[in-house]
This record gives sequence, C-alpha cells and structure tokens, in this order.
Amino acid sequence: MLVIAMDGPSGSGKSSVSKGVARALGLRYLDTGAMYRAVTWWMLRQGVPVDDPAAVAARAGEPVLSVGTDPDAPTISVDDTDVARPIRTDEVTGAVSAVAAVPEVRRRLVALQQQIIGAGGIVVEGRDIGTVVAPDAAVKIYLTASAEARAQRRSKELTGASVAATQADLARRDHHDSTRKVDPLARAVDAVEVDTTSLTLPEVITEVVRIAKGAD
Ligand code: C5P
Repeated sequence: MLVIAMDGPSGSGKSSVSKGVARALGLRYLDTGAMYRAVTWWMLRQGVPVDDPAAVAARAGEPVLSVGTDPDAPTISVDDTDVARPIRTDEVTGAVSAVAAVPEVRRRLVALQQQIIGAGGIVVEGRDIGTVVAPDAAVKIYLTASAEARAQRRSKELTGASVAATQADLARRDHHDSTRKVDPLARAVDAVEVDTTSLTLPEVITEVVRIAKGAD
C-alpha cells in the first residue's frame, strides 16, 4: 500500500499538507516530529539534562509512546498521558533538536515509526522519512519555502512570537537538524521538491495528490 514520505525543514508546511493529502486520498497520517517532541517532553519532566547526550541515551528506552494516525484527530501519548498540547511549548521546541540528535533515541523511534507504517496506506512527515525510515516509499516529497515565508507561517501559529525571533529559532533548528551526525535532514535523491513559498495550502495539496496519483 501507498507510503508518502514528506520531508522538509521546520515551517515548510509539512503538517498541514500531510494531513490534507491523507484526507484527500483516504490514508493514515503520522507526525514523526511529534514523537521526538514527546520523548523530549518526557526527558524534561524526568529532569534529564537534555544537553547531555549520554544522559539522554541512558534513558532513551524508557518512555512508552502511543500514536493515533487519523488525519482528522491525530493523537500522541507518553506512558498514557496525552501530550498533544505540552509538546508544542517553547521549552520542548528549544530542546527537541538536541534530543533528536541522540542515536539511541532515533534508533528506537525509527523502529516504532516503521512498525506504525506497517503495510502502508499512510502519509509520514519528518526529516528523514525518504532517506531512512521509509527508503522504499513510492512517493517522496521534499517541501521547501523561503526562510521568510516559513518564519511568517510559524509566528502566525505561535501567538506573541515576532517574525524575527521565529526566523532565528527556525534557523537554529534547521542548522542543528541538517548537521547532526545521525540521519540529518536531507532531501532523498529520488524526492520531488515542491517549493511552497508562493502557493496556497490547497494548491500544495493538489500538487502532491497529483504527484502521488502519477506514482500509483
Ligand atoms: O516537525 P517538528 O518541527 O515538530 O519536529 C521537531 C524536531 O524533531 C525537529 O526540529 C527535529 O529535530 C526532530 N525530528 C527529527 N526527525 C524527524 C522528525 C523530527 O529529527 N523525522
């Protein structure tokens, strides 16, 4: 069954596009960023020093995640606590790239992601889906947008954040995510790049659906 891998930097529109494409094609939806955020939330709550990779690695096997893949109502919990809201706080956003760079964390989450993908029928968004998690995906999309457009979209989602501050935070996370040693953010050689800078959300969804139908 169809697997659509949707990779790209923060603020490129991956979540809205992935959910829209999943709805349009009757597929499930998996937000792998939410899984890295959930582990980060758990580490912070346990008082693990998230800047210490050895400390994070030592506890990486402990949090138990469960993930719901309905694009109309995706869910995520850790040890039976619903964390959909707390994983979006500035505290988690500020710490997630460091936690996601720890190989033990990635190994565990990639295995869980592959288990959820199973036989397919799913849109999967992240940074390493087309390269590492689902290298055999029939459709690979790499979403991009200018740094300004990405910061503008993100600061609209986060009330009170200035565009300049958001752009600086995105640049910091992109740098961290693209330069880490394990599974860095990268465009798969066989991914189709879609630049969303001057497209509306419905236009991007239509374009990805067209690409997916062509590959089916
Ligand atoms: O997509 P989102 O911005 O919520 O992802 C949060 C962070 O999780 C990213 O900045 C990145 O550090 C990490 N991530 C990752 N691999 C993925 C998805 C997210 O390393 N497949």
